[in-house]
Amino acid sequence: MTRDGIRQRVAEVHVRSLAARTLMASTVLLVCTSPSWTQVVLPEGQGKALVQRACVRCHGLGKLAGPDEGHWPQFGQGRSREEWQHIMRFMMSYGTALSGDEATTVTEYLAVAFPGAPQPTGVPVAGPVDASIREWKLATAGSRPHDPAVAPDGTVWYTAQAKSRLGRLDPRTGQFREFPLQADNPALPYGVGPHGLVPDSDGNIWYTGQLDGHLGKLDPRTGTVTKYQMPAGAGGPHTPIFDQKGTLWFTMQQGNMVGRLIPATGDLKVVTMPTPKSEPYGIVVNSKGVPYFTQLMGSRIGTIDPATMQVREYFLGAGTGPRRLAITADDRIYYTDYARGRLGRLDPGTGQTKEWPSPSGARSQPYAITAVGSIVWYVEGNTTPNMVVRFDPATETFQTWPIPSGGGVVRHMVAAPDGALWLAGSEVDTIAKVEVRSR
Ligand code: HEC
Repeated sequence: MTRDGIRQRVAEVHVRSLAARTLMASTVLLVCTSPSWTQVVLPEGQGKALVQRACVRCHGLGKLAGPDEGHWPQFGQGRSREEWQHIMRFMMSYGTALSGDEATTVTEYLAVAFPGAPQPTGVPVAGPVDASIREWKLATAGSRPHDPAVAPDGTVWYTAQAKSRLGRLDPRTGQFREFPLQADNPALPYGVGPHGLVPDSDGNIWYTGQLDGHLGKLDPRTGTVTKYQMPAGAGGPHTPIFDQKGTLWFTMQQGNMVGRLIPATGDLKVVTMPTPKSEPYGIVVNSKGVPYFTQLMGSRIGTIDPATMQVREYFLGAGTGPRRLAITADDRIYYTDYARGRLGRLDPGTGQTKEWPSPSGARSQPYAITAVGSIVWYVEGNTTPNMVVRFDPATETFQTWPIPSGGGVVRHMVAAPDGALWLAGSEVDTIAKVEVRSR
């Protein structure tokens, strides 16, 4: 099916009325548009003029207001020096127009102008399981590997978000290969901004081109990419997942939607969430083929009927920030409460939730999460170092392991068929494997 055909099929779907995304101006608008845009005043100082010149090309200065644009007051309004160093490396690899010396000046300026508390220290917790963590440094520095995925042939893939590429690691040889992705809009300064990815059973890699507004399918044998455009003005897709029938489901954080694509026909449909600006984020499918997803800013978990696409939302409580989620073998839903430093569980039958404080505390920002059988695994993404956490629902106990490289905000993790966990270290350019041996 042609791109226009797909556009037509979704034309009746309500989308937020932003200008056509093919215009450069509207793309900038999409990145700037945030439910919690905060007015930021730049204090005087060496570096102010550089920020005014170089930092407003792709987004507003609201980004300087703190994690998620200051949406969570408990995290404060600034960032530690170390976080500013990470962010500046990331912005430079997106293509910010500053010389090396200028970037150093800006980093200094931001660390003084918008200071934040140091990241909390990861708390070690002993427990019943032996696990080892092995890491691979990516071939290209500044890649910002956002999400990992394991292909049927055992290779491990990642989105190189800041380099507009997909990457592949063969863990048997340690070799990397990168696949460049082209944005439809050549004026985009940062390319496609690939965010999430998932393999299909034929070994194709499906990715979300978040900043370019498309879903893509890469055939690694030929390097060919097939694109499926999102409805105009809806922003880009965020996290993809296949259900048991081979339908691809995906969240749309900016567009406040969840969608699905049937690869065999190219039929694409999206629906808008009942709760405005709820920011659909992580997504999983249960054993019956029903998708569940987090609504990060809406403090909700949503589910969608795969046949009717009717959405039902579960409110988790004021102040919760469910970032990603996982499903255990009994179809219970566990979520990382990023905002409050907790692990949560939703029973979809009763709508009841239960929460446990994460070992490293309220500011630990639990983020990536997955489940292997009845065991829940997640990562505290704001601790030094990031901690891999194991939670056993039978005993309601935690065990933790430090990530040797620090982890640099692990944003997603997946379990391979053999039970090994694969993580992407977004700000330290690593892929990590956690191997578990029960004692
Ligand atoms: C070439 C485009 C571009 C330029 C120029 C740019 N940014 Fe960004 N920036 C982005 C994009 C895209 C994101 C969003 C990434 C995401 O959502 O993960 C972002 C996100 C951010 C964030 C939030 C990061 C986080 O993890 O919370 C901060 C802070 C930020 N930018 C600061 C800056 C500063 C300071 C400058 C100038 C030195 C700058 N940006 C210049 C593209 C750019």
